[in-house]
Amino acid sequence: MPERGFAAEDPSLKMKNEDNRRWCWVSRRHGVFFTLVLGVVLFLQYNSIKDMAPSWNPKQWLQNHSTKLFVPLKEPNTGLRDTKASEAEPTIAMFTAPSISAVLLKTGRFLSTQEPQTSHQSVIPQVVHPHSTRPTPVPYVSPGPYLVEYPYEYHFTINEPLTCEQEKPFVVLMVPVAPHNRAHRDVIRSTWGSERLVLDKVVRLFFLLGMQTGDDAQQVHKQLLQESNEHQDLIQSDFVDCYKNLTIKTMVMLEWLDSFCSNASYAMKIDSDMFLHVPNLVKMLLNAPTSNYLTGLVAYNGAVLRDPSSKWYLPPELFSPPVYPPYALGLGYILSLDLTKKLIEASRHVKAVYIEDVYLGLCMMHLGMSPTNPPEGAHFHVVPLAYDRCYFSQIIATTVIPSTNRLWLWKDFKAEGPYCKNP
Ligand SMILES: *[C@@H]1O[C@H](CO)[C@@H](O)[C@H](O)[C@H]1NC(C)=O
Ligand SMILES: *[C@@H]1O[C@H](CO)[C@@H](O)[C@H](O)[C@H]1NC(C)=O
Ligand SMILES: *[C@@H]1O[C@H](CO)[C@@H](O)[C@H](O)[C@H]1NC(C)=O
Repeated sequence: MPERGFAAEDPSLKMKNEDNRRWCWVSRRHGVFFTLVLGVVLFLQYNSIKDMAPSWNPKQWLQNHSTKLFVPLKEPNTGLRDTKASEAEPTIAMFTAPSISAVLLKTGRFLSTQEPQTSHQSVIPQVVHPHSTRPTPVPYVSPGPYLVEYPYEYHFTINEPLTCEQEKPFVVLMVPVAPHNRAHRDVIRSTWGSERLVLDKVVRLFFLLGMQTGDDAQQVHKQLLQESNEHQDLIQSDFVDCYKNLTIKTMVMLEWLDSFCSNASYAMKIDSDMFLHVPNLVKMLLNAPTSNYLTGLVAYNGAVLRDPSSKWYLPPELFSPPVYPPYALGLGYILSLDLTKKLIEASRHVKAVYIEDVYLGLCMMHLGMSPTNPPEGAHFHVVPLAYDRCYFSQIIATTVIPSTNRLWLWKDFKAEGPYCKNP
């Protein structure tokens, strides 16, 4: 049943990649072309200045020369516009935010949710093409509803560039969270995020944010700067923070780890609504492989959802096989830090689909690797687990029933006394 070696080599993905390359090529050629045309204009002008009579009529001159000068330029121009129109329009038509929010409400999970549609309209991205030598403005091209704007050169607007070098963590906990969601960060800071030294190993927590958009954007940013000052645990990058952009968040996280924390042994990406047993995590990692290691709750033969109303719908044009390669579910996965560079490199060859955990699975497959199962299957739970002091002491990570008071849970969990009653 497990069919291997298909995804990244999927012809439709490849074609998309080629599309992209053509785009870079067109825009670069466009630049060269423009220079050429400029040269020709100057040359002609120089020549005609010589025989310009006082009665020279610029309008007529233009009419006589325009066809020669401007017709060739039109071609790439219309080409660009056509591509843009044909890609951008279905995007807006097909992107229906309500379906996503509806499922989010149903599943009751805390995810960075902003109406993607709103951000689509309110944000005019300033795309500076990464390949152009000069910052020639290139028209923004939407990647469509199921791909994200990655790779792209994002910048860190709030950063902790020296923390890892100074504290030398063994494992870093990376928690994606929406910028305005201070409440969630505070809960984590005062529960499992407070564990800094476990089994003699340094554990460091960071929150990953994109940009808040909308009316309160400036105010939120001001508060974030203050919060960062207070806690030194925020990392923010300049992409729009919304559910659809989680893949960007994950990739920016890998870039950050690679640039600022590459000496740590492991990183764990963990959602903000999870319970994490840090000592059990460290215990597992002390005996884990040190390279090419990605673990968590691994999904095998995960079905590709083809119902357009599904939260995780992916059209066959983007990925045609019926099942995904193995991938670690996004609620909490761990990777050895040597993988960051490799995954970033793979992302240059695998189109960035919006489902972040699936995307890492596709990148792993591109590398010819697979995620590893944790030593115990019961270490990770995706279905919310009702709090039980004994059971929680034996796991690594689980989603928590949303109504749970997590501060109370933590207090109870850390209380003195044995975790499990005698059998
Ligand atoms: C434009 O072309 C017409 C004939 O093709 C010629 O009579 C006229 O002088 C030209 N005008 C200029 C400004 O070169
Ligand atoms: C990582 O470790 C190497 C060697 O121990 C050291 O030279 C380098 O500065 C460290 N980098 C960071 C970011 O801590
Ligand atoms: C995702 O982020 C990019 C970069 O900031 C932005 O252009 C795009 O509009 C965002 N996507 C959505 C759905 O808002």
